[in-house]
Amino acid sequence: AKIGRVFSGIQPTGAVHLGNYFGAIDNWVKLQEEVGQKDKLYFSAVDLHTMTALKEYQLEEAGSGIKKRTIKDDSIELTANLLACGIDPKKCVLFRQSQVPQHSELYWILGCLASTAILDGMHQFRDKSAGGNFKSQGLYTYPTLMAADILLYGTTHVPVGEDQRQHIRLARRLALNFNRYYMTDLMVVPWSMETSLARVMSLSDPTSKMSKSAPSPESRIELRDTKEMLRKKVRRAVTDSTMGVTLDRETRPGVYNLVRLLAHTTGRSDEEVAAELKDAGHAVLKSAVGDALEIKLAPIREKVEYYMANTKIVEEILNEGAREAEKEAHKRLEKIKSRIGL
Ligand code: ADP
Ligand code: NA
Repeated sequence: AKIGRVFSGIQPTGAVHLGNYFGAIDNWVKLQEEVGQKDKLYFSAVDLHTMTALKEYQLEEAGSGIKKRTIKDDSIELTANLLACGIDPKKCVLFRQSQVPQHSELYWILGCLASTAILDGMHQFRDKSAGGNFKSQGLYTYPTLMAADILLYGTTHVPVGEDQRQHIRLARRLALNFNRYYMTDLMVVPWSMETSLARVMSLSDPTSKMSKSAPSPESRIELRDTKEMLRKKVRRAVTDSTMGVTLDRETRPGVYNLVRLLAHTTGRSDEEVAAELKDAGHAVLKSAVGDALEIKLAPIREKVEYYMANTKIVEEILNEGAREAEKEAHKRLEKIKSRIGL
């Protein structure tokens, strides 16, 4: 398959969870095996994006007495997770967004082509600013920064989970707006590339997606969770009171989510797993999910701990990645600015 140029990012806002793994990282690892001579993969810890939740960050740290955890620490932990999952800096460009200043510059340029009527309709802004939360300009224009991340590298494909579909549409629209307004074809119009498990649901509320920002750590399985934590979370996952196992996303979201996780983790189809466990109780399903996840995650966990004990290695990888990313970003941004007449 032809891949072209790929960009994808993850926010370093906390531990990496199964949604990130199956919705993004696992797919990135597979892409690495398919890249040809002309293809290029950019994977980024999008740390500037995390600043949209700066308030929560500070509250968490207040009065703790321990060394303040920085956004950079979070990027290093995220990168340790990515490396442990098999992201290989020899096969991709792995970097921290804030080390490449062109992201912010293109963000401004695109912002001047983004209609507020469209930003008003972005579901993530509506969700995250609900309930009296601080509504910053940053949170509002976050999708514009994301578009800049993508367009800066001439990206053709963006591997993301289903939750990001709307944001990719905006990136496409801004690329087209730019090309139309400045009468050029400099901006490559990107496509999203969804994984087969593009939506992992929360364990405590299977009607919402598993997320780093959900307050309850019980709702998500993190790659660094110990064997005991992992099993406990799966055991406590919300299901329903119907007997047996069937595949029904609408009426049985909890069971559906667990079946899909099991199928994906063991490389089988959802139908096959559901048929096999048709008469099984939920406890049996959960213990099968726990076993499968433990087999999958144990080696990853071990590698994360290795990188976390050797953060100098991780930092060097990020610095090298930033140098490479900036080279490309600089080249493209110069063309863009020259076209604008700056
Ligand atoms: P989060 O939503 O947990 O903060 P990010 O916004 O950093 O995670 O998303 C990083 C990547 O992980 C994106 O490609 C996103 O689509 C994917 N992703 C996040 N949560 C899920 C989920 N529950 N299911 C599938 N993919 C997900
Ligand atoms: Na998100």
